[in-house]
Amino acid sequence: MKSTTVSRWLVATFCALTAITAAQAQTTKLPNVTVLATGGTIAGTGATSTTTVGYTAATVGVQQLINAVPELAKIANVKGEQVFQIASESMTNEHWLTLGKRVNALLAQNDVDGIVITHGTDTMEETAYFLDLVVKSKKPVVLVGAMRPSTALSADGPINLYNAVSIAGSQEAVGKGVLLALNDQIHAARDVTKTNTSTPDSFKTPELGLLGYVQGGKPFFYRASTRKHTTDSEFDIANLTALPQVDIVYGYANMNTVALDAFVAAGAKGIIHAGVGDGSIAARVKPGLIAARKKGTIIVRSSRVGQGILARNGEANDDELDFVASDTLSPQKARILLMLALTKTNNTRDIQRMFYTY
Ligand code: DGL
Repeated sequence: MKSTTVSRWLVATFCALTAITAAQAQTTKLPNVTVLATGGTIAGTGATSTTTVGYTAATVGVQQLINAVPELAKIANVKGEQVFQIASESMTNEHWLTLGKRVNALLAQNDVDGIVITHGTDTMEETAYFLDLVVKSKKPVVLVGAMRPSTALSADGPINLYNAVSIAGSQEAVGKGVLLALNDQIHAARDVTKTNTSTPDSFKTPELGLLGYVQGGKPFFYRASTRKHTTDSEFDIANLTALPQVDIVYGYANMNTVALDAFVAAGAKGIIHAGVGDGSIAARVKPGLIAARKKGTIIVRSSRVGQGILARNGEANDDELDFVASDTLSPQKARILLMLALTKTNNTRDIQRMFYTY
């Protein structure tokens, strides 16, 4: 082989190796984000491109969701796992324990920088708050979903997934607690709620406010939650195989105790009373709550209203009745905190402290 040919071969080889090294360097500089898929509308399909209601949720697999957003490869090294494939109205305590344990196992790995959980929007706020209380890492965990199925015109899933991965791979999101991100907004798990049955701007934190925005694939934070979460939480699910049964009794005019009595008879360890107004209890319902408390059931007064502080000793003498006040937690989130509280204590003073802490 002539020397000029050898020289050309060496130069070509050197250039190729340099390019590979640069590409590898670029890839290794990208954060490692794992996407855990659970189902929902983001994985949903409809009969036509204009079907935005009446579609089938939980039909598209995690790798297809990732492949539909090739831009992800520019912002993170993304791996996908299909943890469940369900519509989120069917989420159970057992699903939460499985998901929470998987999240903690992954975040304990040095090669995982953040996690995105794709999820149905119906119970996303609940899963987010449960994880906010049990995740044992400061690394970002971001819940994401979609209000339109993947087959719809202007489906919001792809951009929501891209934004969620950008947050999960960011330094800015470290230590912020579990986050929920749709519609270019970033919300805290504790305070966010679904406010509309079908529009893409459904998730809001009405009075306490969102934490920030995602723009151009970058998160911008303007607030942080003041309540304890993740590594500051006293709750640990590592050795739990079940959660205590806690049910919600919804308040309304002309209410009776049929539901309350049935829950207590079925062995509920706790009852969330989602009262009218500031957690008011109907005169004909109060005796049933008092009797349940006397049998050892923990009673938490919450409100169906949605915003504001549920004042202890306001609409009921909680000190005398030995009830717990839910502070600003919605009934569905008060249920989650009470379930976890009951894995630690039955002492109502201790439980009330937890409602003022998380
Ligand atoms: N069945 C609902 C769910 O899985 C669909 C709503 C959605 O994901 O946006 O939560």
